[in-house]
Amino acid sequence: MTVADESRIHSASIAQRVMTPDDAAQFIRPGDNVGMSGFTGAGYPKEVPGALVRRVEDATVRGDRFAVSVWTGASTAPELDGALAAVDAIDLRMPYQSDPVSRAKINAGLVDYLDLHLSHVAQMVWEGAFGHLDVAVVEVAGVTADGHLIPSSSVGNNKTWIDQADRVILEVNAWQPAALEGMHDVYYGTALPPYRTPIQIVSASDRIGVPYLHCPPEKIVAVVETNAPDRNTVFKPADETSQLIAQHLLAFLSHEVKRDRLPAALLPLQSGVGNIANAVLRGLDGGPFRPLTAYTEVIQDGMLALLESGTMKSISATAFSLSEEGAADLHANIADYHDRIVLRPQEISNHPEVIRRLGCLAMNGAIEADIYGNINSTHVMGTSIMNGIGGSGDFARNAYIAMFLTPSIAKDGAISSIVPMVSHVDHTEHDVHVIITEQGVADLRGLAPRRRAQKIIDQCAHPDYRPMLQDYFDRASASTSGKHTPHLLEESLSWHARFLRDGTMQPR
Ligand code: COA
Repeated sequence: MTVADESRIHSASIAQRVMTPDDAAQFIRPGDNVGMSGFTGAGYPKEVPGALVRRVEDATVRGDRFAVSVWTGASTAPELDGALAAVDAIDLRMPYQSDPVSRAKINAGLVDYLDLHLSHVAQMVWEGAFGHLDVAVVEVAGVTADGHLIPSSSVGNNKTWIDQADRVILEVNAWQPAALEGMHDVYYGTALPPYRTPIQIVSASDRIGVPYLHCPPEKIVAVVETNAPDRNTVFKPADETSQLIAQHLLAFLSHEVKRDRLPAALLPLQSGVGNIANAVLRGLDGGPFRPLTAYTEVIQDGMLALLESGTMKSISATAFSLSEEGAADLHANIADYHDRIVLRPQEISNHPEVIRRLGCLAMNGAIEADIYGNINSTHVMGTSIMNGIGGSGDFARNAYIAMFLTPSIAKDGAISSIVPMVSHVDHTEHDVHVIITEQGVADLRGLAPRRRAQKIIDQCAHPDYRPMLQDYFDRASASTSGKHTPHLLEESLSWHARFLRDGTMQPR
């Protein structure tokens, strides 16, 4: 356990419940549904998962099975997802993961995985669709004298976990800046139908809730103190492919502004994380579009840099997702960022109503796209999960412009990311407006399926694969009876099988 130098617990009654992580983990029982905090490595519990692993190992030595269902905001960190998966402590995982050990267990059929739209999770838990939540394990940045919980570097589903769980274990993390207080906007007005009312957010920075999480004190069965850091997202400098994708995207946005289809300051941006997203954000810095806003899921290094330079005026998200340098910057300059960042529960950061109203510009990654514009974001070769749909569906389905970004080839060119028919569909042709690869931009809006196919082949496919795709499309167009979306069904399926046969690609 990493003990905090200075306690962040200012409520005497809650301070009385401080105990070791091992004692706290005793409140988790085999078979429990456990709601943990955490979103892309930010704000996950740092101590109790390790203690739970020790309980599981003890049980295994005794010949007993000890497994739980793990519900989170999104991905977490190796010491939570990886460590629990490694000792087979997870029966069911939801709604998102990106851990290699956990992924391997899911793909081996050893863990049930519910890959969900992140905005759906809270309402489905209130609905009771996943059964009852037994325990919540939630990291907070502090506890006020009157018992309010100061959320941490992510909000995720914490409000719902605390509301729904019978027992709450708090991890109070003094590594998190005390100045996070006031940055959060926790909305308690959501309800199930027929009692829903409008979510009153009309601009990205609007605040409609309160800065604290509320928890009935009698539910708090244990409190653990720590000062362990968040998992850092490794920041890789943008490679040439990512830079080309970013250049095409910025040229597309400029074109839209010139045609008066977008305002000069654009519309609120949503961006996934990773190499391409960082290259896009870097390209926006100091550029012509300003002042930018973001209504997004996570704040990565590139977004902080936009705030710092003044290119962006405000960001709404549910979590940070920072590198070590990014976290150091946030901690050092938090006073400058404080009033320009709002962290919300994920059912609000990803809320379809708000995304549609604000007209977000959604930019997400893809594993593959087909010639008609369907997108696979989650499954390699149609069967093996990579990460999950995350918030990409929440945003793409409701965005003003839904853009998908991917290199045109994968695995050093052994695989084309543009295929005749995707091996798994996450985003249908109806939710995909623009596809961008390092080869170019295919703006699919206003195009019927066959025109979309020609555009994607011409603009997005890699030159090595263009002739194969053109040949497929020509033969399909000539020989199928249905001329609306021509396909050679047997051949479209064997496209993926070919890579497996050649041994050039093994499913993960
Ligand atoms: N076939 C097989 N493997 C492929 C592939 C394809 N067509 N395209 C990519 N991959 C593999 C890559 O080789 C890489 O594998 P590795 O980890 O073994 O090197 C891996 O998928 C990741 O691809 P990469 O090119 O590094 O892109 P990325 O890190 O941007 O990830 C997604 C792309 C689609 C996996 C990622 O964006 C994702 O998980 N999206 C879904 C969730 C989401 O959109 N979240 C944001 C919403 S707010």
